[in-house]
Parts: sequence; C-alpha cells; structure tokens
Amino acid sequence: MQLCQLPLLLLLLSNIHSEHTEEILKPKVTIIPDHPVFRGETVTLRCDIHDEGVTSWRYNWYKDGSISVFSERQEHTFSSVTESDAGKYSCYGTETEGPRRSQLSDEVTLAVSAPRAVLSVSPQKWLTEGDPVTLICEVNGSSTGWTFSWFTKTVSGSRNDYELLSDSSRGAGGKYTVSSADLKHTGVYVCKAERDNPPKYTTQHSNTQPLWVTGVSPPVSLIISPSRTQHFTSVSLSLSCEGQSNSDGWTVRRYTDSGRLEDCSSSVWGSQTGSTCTIRPTDPLDTGVYWCQSESGENHHHVNITVHIGVILESPVHPVTEGDNLTLRCLYPYTSPPKLRADFYKDGSLIQKQTTEMIIPTVSKSHEGFYYCKHPESGESPKSWISVRVRGSKISVLHILSSVLAACPYLLVTVVLIYKCCRMRVISVEEEETSI
Ligand SMILES: *[C@@H]1O[C@H](CO)[C@@H](O)[C@H](O)[C@H]1NC(C)=O
Ligand SMILES: *[C@@H]1O[C@H](CO)[C@@H](O)[C@H](O)[C@H]1NC(C)=O
Ligand SMILES: *[C@@H]1O[C@H](CO)[C@@H](O)[C@H](O)[C@H]1NC(C)=O
Repeated sequence: MQLCQLPLLLLLLSNIHSEHTEEILKPKVTIIPDHPVFRGETVTLRCDIHDEGVTSWRYNWYKDGSISVFSERQEHTFSSVTESDAGKYSCYGTETEGPRRSQLSDEVTLAVSAPRAVLSVSPQKWLTEGDPVTLICEVNGSSTGWTFSWFTKTVSGSRNDYELLSDSSRGAGGKYTVSSADLKHTGVYVCKAERDNPPKYTTQHSNTQPLWVTGVSPPVSLIISPSRTQHFTSVSLSLSCEGQSNSDGWTVRRYTDSGRLEDCSSSVWGSQTGSTCTIRPTDPLDTGVYWCQSESGENHHHVNITVHIGVILESPVHPVTEGDNLTLRCLYPYTSPPKLRADFYKDGSLIQKQTTEMIIPTVSKSHEGFYYCKHPESGESPKSWISVRVRGSKISVLHILSSVLAACPYLLVTVVLIYKCCRMRVISVEEEETSI
C-alpha cells in the first residue's frame, strides 16, 4: 500500500520543487524526547524551518510516505502514544501570506515499544545450600519509576501457572535477594513491572529464570540409564528416583529449554511407573533439567540432560570426586560400535586429538569445565559441564555443624550452672545483709 503511494508523493515533491525557484529550505523534524518511548508516554513531533524572510508558515506533516497530511501544526503531540503511532515522519511548510514553500524534510523515525521486564540471576543459578543469590528484574531501556512483583511457575496437570511469592514486596525495588539459599528456593521465577506514575502500565511476565539449590545430602538420587548426560534421539531413556530407604512418592519433573515445567506422570513424552520415568522415544525437545519431586513439593538432585541428533559426548551424570579418573568417549549412533576416534575439547581448547577414549587421571578442581568432542566427518557433540567435588569438603561443613550441635547441651549446662552459681552468691549476700 505504501509502495503504491510512493509515486504520488514523488509527484507532489517534484511539484514543490518546480513551483519555487528561490532558495530551497529544508525543515528539520525533532522528536521530543529523542529516545525510544514506551506505549502510553507523551511524545511531541516538531517541525522547524529556518528562514528569516518568512513570518508565518503553515505546516504539513506526512507519515510513512502517505500522500495525506495528518497534521497542520508546527508541534504535534501524542499525549498517550501507541505502537500504531510509530513510523517515519516528515514535514514541509508553506508560507501563509506568500508563495513560498519549503523543501520536504528528511524522514525521522518515531519508535514506540511495549516495556518488557527482563529477569536475570547473579552470580549464578546453580547453587549449593547456603549460597547467596540475587534475582534482578529490569525494564529494558528504562531504569526508574517502576515497582516489581515476583512469581514462581507452578504445574497443575499439563498447565503452567504463576503464583505470587508471599514475600513479593521484598523485591519491589527490582532485586530479590536471598542471602543464604535454602532447598525451598529452588524454582522457576518470573517478574513483572508496574509503572508508578501515570500513564499506568504493567508489563507482561518476564522471561523465566530457574534457581537450582542442591542439598548437602539429598534423600533421593536421580539415576539415569544409560548413565550419561547426553543421549541419542529415538531411543529409550529411564530416570528413576532412588532413596537410601524409601523412594515411594517421588516422581520425575523437568524444566525444558523452552521454559516449561512438566511432570513425567501427566505428560505425552514420558510414562511414570512408581518412581521411574521412561522417555520413549527421545527427542531434542527433551533437553532440560530433570529432578525428583515429592508430593509435598520437595525437590532434589537436579541433573542436566541433553538429547542430540548425531555425535554425543559420554560423560558422567554426577560430579566426579577429586582424585578419581574421568573417562570421556565420543559416540555416534550410525556406526557400529558407536565409539568414534575423535578430538576432545575443554572450554573451547583442544586437549586431546584422535582418541576413542580420553582418560583424565586423578582429577582436580581445575578440570571443571565444559567438554565436547569433535569428529571431522560426523560432527561435534553438544557441550556438557563436568563438575569436580572436593573430597570431604561437604563432610567438614557437616562436621562443624554437628560438633556445634553436639556441644550445645554442654553449653546449656554451663550457662545454667553459672547462673545458679551467681544466684546462690546473691542469696548468700542478701542473707548476710539481713543478718546485719
Ligand atoms: C532491549 O531492547 C533492545 C531494543 O530496544 C534490544 O536490542 C535488546 O536485545 C533488548 N534486551 C533484552 C535483554 O531483551
Ligand atoms: C548444568 O549445566 C549448566 C551449564 O549449562 C552448569 O552451569 C550446571 O552446573 C550444570 N548442572 C549440573 C548439576 O551439572
Ligand atoms: C585411574 O587410572 C589408572 C590407570 O590409568 C589406574 O591405575 C587407577 O587405578 C585408576 N584410579 C581409579 C581411582 O580408578
């Protein structure tokens, strides 16, 4: 439609040019404010023609190359701008009491956007009990004048809903800070922003941002079979929650890369039998974080799973303990056996060329990183994070805690004894005083 109108506009322009042969004036369009504005804000377009010889101009505004004038004022104000007002504007002037006309100005773009809440996590979303974490909600391109509210995603059947956090007001300033993460802080978070001053505006829900808090000694483990992080497509994958004593009541839940929370039991992708979830057949859309969930809402042992078409890396699902050997292989579903002679990379650097099995002996903390493998013809595997657990570090925290707890009765007894001791002295002093 705009293309059809272009010839007409050109005609109009050539007309302007031919009619006046004197000096050609080019007006300037300014937009106030001069940065992209949000829906509902006030914006003014202004047309300035600099020519001392002319006392009064009549202004003509065009939008998006249209032939029809949409305004005849020098300043045109949108008191509550909408996305439909966005576009390219130009103006020209005609002398009110004379023959002169200005040139058509250059086009100036008015950009109008809907405020968008953007959620991020600092310093990271994979946490251990006790770690500090901050969720940060911002309105893209606008730093002041907003109040924020906080939600977590919930699952009911195959539906995802949002539930306002009971202490949502804590993050009203845009930062929701947890000084010491607890297991109950695991969840998928979203935020919303509301403008304090008129025009009133509330954003849509932000992007989702999960937090995974790992306990010191989870009561259940998620056992994956085959036991690796990356998996082929179109195969069967079994995930089961196994506890030291009892694994009844634990089911598998996941958070996929598409931002959805899903239960294996009410899904089309898996079937839950007892505490075991079977995914058959696997698909790249199954990529995500999986864990064990109890009916009361407890969740443990969050594990990354990647389903990939083509080359995959065989790496351990669980953290490797310091001092152990780490074995990596590169697998391809279309060769038999699937083991490839490949190159192995850590954090983007080649660490070993042309090997079917890469063994890193006596692993240390410095071996933590993102690993992948690459075969010249078959391709490259996705990256997997391999973490190294320091031997005994968790135990020592427990140790300190348990010794403090164990010392408690003695502390209590000591305090009571001191107190009693003092009282007895006071009583004896009083007795002495009364006897005087
Ligand atoms: C913020 O908005 C700009 C455009 O206005 C866009 O290019 C950018 O990607 C946005 N940032 C986020 C985090 O959404
Ligand atoms: C899952 O992968 C992310 C990177 O994508 C990594 O930071 C995180 O530590 C991994 N979690 C586990 C439990 O391996
Ligand atoms: C690690 O591998 C070496 C051989 O490369 C072997 O001698 C050693 O027993 C292995 N250690 C463990 C803990 O498996």
